[in-house]
This record gives sequence, structure tokens and C-alpha cells, in this order.
Amino acid sequence: MTTANNSSVKRVLVVGSWAKEQISIENLSGNPKVEIFSYMDTRNPGIIPQVKGYHIGSFKDIHSIVRYAKEQEIDLVIITTASPLSMGLVDALEAGRILTFGPVRLAARLESDKEFTRRLLQKYMPSAVPQFEVFEDTRSAIEYAEKLNWQVAVKPIGLTEGLGVRVFGEQLKDENDVKEYIRQVINNRIGGSARVIIEEKLEGEEFTVQCFVHGKYILSTPAVQDFKKLLPGERGPNTASMGSYSQQGHLLPFMEEEDYEKALEIIRETLEGFQKETGKTCSGFLYGQFMLTASGVKLIEYNFRPGDPEWINTIMILKNNLLDIIMGLFQGEEQELYFENQATVCKYVVPEGYPERLDLNLDVNLNEEAIRKIQGLKYYYSCGLDNKGKLNVGTERGIAFVARAPTIEEANERVERAISLVDGEFYYRKDIGTKDLIDSKVEHVNRLRRSR
Ligand code: AMP
Ligand code: GLY
Repeated sequence: MTTANNSSVKRVLVVGSWAKEQISIENLSGNPKVEIFSYMDTRNPGIIPQVKGYHIGSFKDIHSIVRYAKEQEIDLVIITTASPLSMGLVDALEAGRILTFGPVRLAARLESDKEFTRRLLQKYMPSAVPQFEVFEDTRSAIEYAEKLNWQVAVKPIGLTEGLGVRVFGEQLKDENDVKEYIRQVINNRIGGSARVIIEEKLEGEEFTVQCFVHGKYILSTPAVQDFKKLLPGERGPNTASMGSYSQQGHLLPFMEEEDYEKALEIIRETLEGFQKETGKTCSGFLYGQFMLTASGVKLIEYNFRPGDPEWINTIMILKNNLLDIIMGLFQGEEQELYFENQATVCKYVVPEGYPERLDLNLDVNLNEEAIRKIQGLKYYYSCGLDNKGKLNVGTERGIAFVARAPTIEEANERVERAISLVDGEFYYRKDIGTKDLIDSKVEHVNRLRRSR
């Protein structure tokens, strides 16, 4: 591991193109002594004015990223996007003696290889893993799904841009759908291998806990709940997420302290287990997605990058500077994260037709001056400018509007006020952050707790 001290870092490169990168760069800009550079795969109009320099290129071209970091004499690279990690970007940067915050290729397996992570946790914390088996043979996979009464999630092993997992009762309507998708995953090698995970379908409320990790150091951030379905009532197709909320403190309205502690214990056990098994330590932003079920907290998956939008809720109330946190971790300092005691709500404005169609233009007029007057409200771009200078969502989403306020409802009112000032044709989820939605989550978990 290449090291440096805080004051020797003058030039920082952020690898990633979306709203979570824009808000990270805004936070980093709070340190006037550093110059910030960006490597993006799209021309994000929120990032361009904030950085000293930027390069547009593919995230899969790790040589291009390393070359840009060398050309710009970067002192620290922060990687917040997933795709180059499993290709060994961190390993390549470190081999070039460039200090990097992100997981080496082996550690990125916690995200990119669901079988590896499930088996690791089965050994180190079995209570956190749903019942599952991995199959290469279609017939045995189907037999196992039948044994679980078709109440299953069918998962490819590798990365699928968040679209590979299908769940009975959601994307899989009946047992024929289950059988057909098992065949597709194996025959078409979805996720990169001719293997499939069949897993017990869990019922509960999902929540996200994100941490900064480096060796034995784990710094956790408040829990956030995100909403992946396009339509209210968790209906319609999956999206990259339509929005998210957090409440004051670090819990969600349906959580108890022990649920948060359990999620942290799962993260700790995973990282310790990983080190025991591989002899390597992990470094980077670890995103844990959990489900609170009648039989406790279970791990759904890890990403080795911040969540979008969950990272936006988090940085919106973070008082520390990201550079101080990361350099503190490299130097092995004991440190604490400080957050404003505020709730947050974030909602994505997307083009009509998303996500069935991508590469759409988002033709909106933001009324920026009026929106800037709303207290505690910001917006960030998960889209880029096309050749004609129009906003285009590419494979991404749109614009994230986020507010902080003493309560979730007040934060929601601020976001609603901002979106009411946007002219044009667009879609967003009105229900995220409303009292009705939050009450329904609390009621759901109360029912699960009573059934224990
Ligand atoms: P993943 O790509 O593993 O995050 O899965 C995508 C989504 O599928 C998650 O956000 C969950 O909503 C759902 N999911 C994954 N595993 C299960 C499971 N075992 N039971 C029910 N839903 C699941
Ligand atoms: N919010 C979902 C994700 O970042 O993957």
C-alpha cells in the first residue's frame, strides 16, 4: 500500500460520473488546498464546473484511467463506481505507486461474486444468510426451487448492472417463469458464468448501511432506505432507484438500535472472514444492503462503492471532509464521523419512458434561481450533456433533488417544492418521504416482529 500524509495530497482524482460523485466532489471542494479532477464516462454538467480538469472515457478501460492519473500527477484516486474494480483498477493504480481509496480486485469479489460472498458469510455468520444453493445443472436448480415451494430469488453469480436478480411474485410471476429464468441464466451465462444461485425469498423491509473501510477500521454512516421500483406501492419495473430517505440519528423509523448493530456485525464478520480466508484486507466504500425480516437482519448484497442515491442522503448531512476521513484511515487514526441531526429525502426526476427505454433526453427547465432559495435543498446530476448540449440520461437516470430538515416530512416538502418549480415532461415518485409511506413501513415491521 502506497501511503502519504494529508498535507502531501494536493491533487485528487474521483472516478465516476453521477450524482454521488458530484456531491462527493462538492464535499472535497470544502478543502481549498486540493485540486480535484474527474474521470467520467459522460459529460456531467454538475461536475464539470467544479473540477480543475476532467477526462471522458470508458470505466472498463483501466489503462486510460491510470494514464490520466499519471498525466495529471494525481496524489490520491477515489473510486466510487463499480465496473473498473473487478477489472483490477486499484491493483493497477497501486502498481503505478498511486495512492488509491477503493478495493483491490480480490476484495471487489465481495460485490462481483455473489457465490463467494454467500459462502463466506455462511461460514462466518450463518444467521445472516438466507437458505441458498448454487447450481450448474438446470434440472437440480429447478428441483431445489420446487423444494422451496417456488418462493425463491434467482440470481446470476456475477455483475449484471443491478438487473440480474429476479424474485418470485415480482419479476417471476409463476413457477414457469422461475424455470425459464433458471434456464436463461445457465444457458446464456448471465452474469458471466453458467451457474445460478437459488435462494429463499425473504420478506421484510430493506435498508442500506454504508461504511468507509480500511483494514481493521470501519466507519459507519446512518441507515438509508431506497426505492428501486418505478411506481408507488413498490410496483412496476426495477430502476437504478427512484429515491431514498433517512431520519434524524442513524436509524430508520422501523428500525431498532439492535437492527443497526446487527448490520454492522455482519459487515465486521464479512471483513474479518475475508481477511482470514485470503490474507488480504479491504479498503474503500462498502455498501451493505440488508433486509429486516421476522427472523432478524439478513444480508441481501454488498457493493464496493457508495450507493446512489443513498450516498447523497449521507453526504448531505456529513460534517467531515472526505479527504480527512480517507487520509485518517490510511494513517490508522482513530476518528469519528459527525452528521447533522437532520432527516433527508432524495427523489430522482427521470424522463417519461424510463427505464423501459434508456438514452432519453431529459428536457426540463430547472428554474435554478427559485430552487436555490429553498432552504436545505440541493440537486445533483445522474446524466450528461449530449453533442447538442441537451441533457441525456444514457444508461443512467436524471436529476436527484435532495433536502435536509428536522423531519422526513419537512425534507419531503422541500423536495416537492423544488420539483414543482421544474418545467417540462418528467416522472418522479411522489410517495417517497410521505407520512403514509413511512407509516406503512413501520406497520409492516411491527407485523413481522409480532410474528416472531
Ligand atoms: P441484488 O442485486 O442482490 O441487490 O438484488 C436486487 C433486489 O432483489 C434487492 O434489492 C431485493 O429487493 C431483491 N432480492 C434479492 N435477494 C432477495 C431475496 N433472497 N428475497 C427477496 N428479495 C430479494
Ligand atoms: N441504491 C442502489 C445502489 O446504489 O445500488
